[in-house]
Amino acid sequence: CGIVGYIGRNQAAEILLKGLEKLEYRGYDSAGIAFQTSEGLTMFKEKGRIVDLRAVIPEKIDTYVGIGHTRWATHGVPDQKNSHPHSSASGRFTLVHNGVIENYEKLIKEYLKDTQFSSETDTEVVVQLIEHFAEIGMSTEDAFRKALSLLHGSYAIAMLDEENPDTIFVAKNRSPLLVGISEDCNVVASDAMAMLQVTDQFIELHDGEVVYLRKDGIIIETLAGDKIERASYTAELDMSDIEKGTYDHYMLKEIDEQPGVLRKIIEAYSTEEGTLDIAPMIKQAFKQADRLYIIAAGTSYHASLIGKEYFEKLAGLPVEVHISSEFGYNIPLLSKNPLFLFITQSGETADSRQVLVKIKALGYPSITMTNVPGSTLSREADHTLLLYAGPEIAVASTKAYTAQLAVLAITAHAIGGGAQMIDLKKELALTANAIQTLTDMKEEIAKIARELLTDKRNAFFIGRALDYYVSLEGALKLKEISYIQAEGFAGGELKHGTIALIEEGTPVIALATQPSVSPNIRSNVKEVLARGAHACIISMEGNSETDDRLILPYVHPLLTPLVAVIPLQLLSYYESLHRGCDVDKPRNLAKSVTVE
Ligand code: G6P
Repeated sequence: CGIVGYIGRNQAAEILLKGLEKLEYRGYDSAGIAFQTSEGLTMFKEKGRIVDLRAVIPEKIDTYVGIGHTRWATHGVPDQKNSHPHSSASGRFTLVHNGVIENYEKLIKEYLKDTQFSSETDTEVVVQLIEHFAEIGMSTEDAFRKALSLLHGSYAIAMLDEENPDTIFVAKNRSPLLVGISEDCNVVASDAMAMLQVTDQFIELHDGEVVYLRKDGIIIETLAGDKIERASYTAELDMSDIEKGTYDHYMLKEIDEQPGVLRKIIEAYSTEEGTLDIAPMIKQAFKQADRLYIIAAGTSYHASLIGKEYFEKLAGLPVEVHISSEFGYNIPLLSKNPLFLFITQSGETADSRQVLVKIKALGYPSITMTNVPGSTLSREADHTLLLYAGPEIAVASTKAYTAQLAVLAITAHAIGGGAQMIDLKKELALTANAIQTLTDMKEEIAKIARELLTDKRNAFFIGRALDYYVSLEGALKLKEISYIQAEGFAGGELKHGTIALIEEGTPVIALATQPSVSPNIRSNVKEVLARGAHACIISMEGNSETDDRLILPYVHPLLTPLVAVIPLQLLSYYESLHRGCDVDKPRNLAKSVTVE
């Protein structure tokens, strides 16, 4: 979910709506806004997108203070009743919340037995609890802090009090939240992008802090009431980075940005001597480790699988790759000197963060590889490796994935000492050119999507070695945005069960970029062809055959994933478009999942 709050000298409604539009990638099941007006608190909420909310907000609403929310449903179905903001029984308090309150049932039993609830959400318990304490005589500040001190779980909260119309009450624990400051206003948002429209000066909040936001100043305190002074920083973001420009969809814009991102990464990691390197302290951390544990979710997990090969081949460092939501609750036997690498585009994924918290408590060193400087996982790990991909807004990850692969290769190469040598700077530059060539082949790839996927309900992606990992990512892209049931398989594994699903016309996309296993994957293709599959072989120059449907420009065999994924991203994009799906905001998903 995403939250925003504004208090200042300008009309708040449009600023809040624009802010929510920028946060829609965090969830889009429902949205709502509450304002302070001369007649008291006014609230609007709607199931669906921000456009639906915008449609019900009167154009001339006179307000300078408000809070807003865009929701990814956790507790309670995504309908109007469960949309945020939520109000207390008397209507005096209204709040928006991102996170999960784990002990809400206990709190109801203990404090709110007689309260009438109007939603099924854990959030409503928080606002009712604050009212409960205010009713027994506490000031709003005290009631707010008292209620927060009882909560177990994660929250980013912004609250309005009808009796204190000049303040927004803000709190943060384990869910992302930033305060923005300027001459004209003070704001709060889950992400700086939402409020770049009014300021580029932001202040980080830490867990367990509360903030009182007023028109002409802010006060940050701990839950215990101790004042905190913290300097602001300038958000290094450009409005043009977060606009679609001439594109219909962010996803296509982000696919096209990949050659440029790769060149930017090469530049960012280049030394004065012209080689690629990482910070000496980070290198040191790797050198001290006897085993690397990579922790990630979703697309970042798929990039991690390829990262394992890079570390093992280029740095001779043994690696285990784990899904974050599994690892944290079933920690395997660890080596003597483990190092943890968290790979996360957003730096906010709660599943990954809970692992970081646990391994820190065990005293192990950690590095976060992320696209978002200052994000939670970046702040909390010992070191950060940045991706330099620029804001990724489409829910389906594209440029962050290729950026992860590039930075993984650079890191492994910088540590060095593995069995394989590569002139990485030169090879990455060639890879950027190869990606460019493919992004210029959109018409051809759209045609392949039509031939292969029209009216199909399922599809298989197969590959061997590095191609296998890319096939997992290709299948995920297709599932996410076109809702075709797609699976990625190791080429040799299909015959051990899944081949039973192959029937006349079943699409099978086979990646054959790896010279070492080329004959093997080609015989796997023959096996599915013999059962009626419609196969599409994607191979690479120097390793192709006449019937291959798409031949990728040659790159170094270790870097083929950066190139092989491009047609798969484009296939998914065009199929999604053809099916009339919402490319950038697929159903049920959110870009940044800040709940476990
Ligand atoms: C969400 C997104 C995925 C993403 C995953 C991990 O589920 O929909 O596209 O891969 O989170 O996100 P992260 O920011 O940690 O890489």
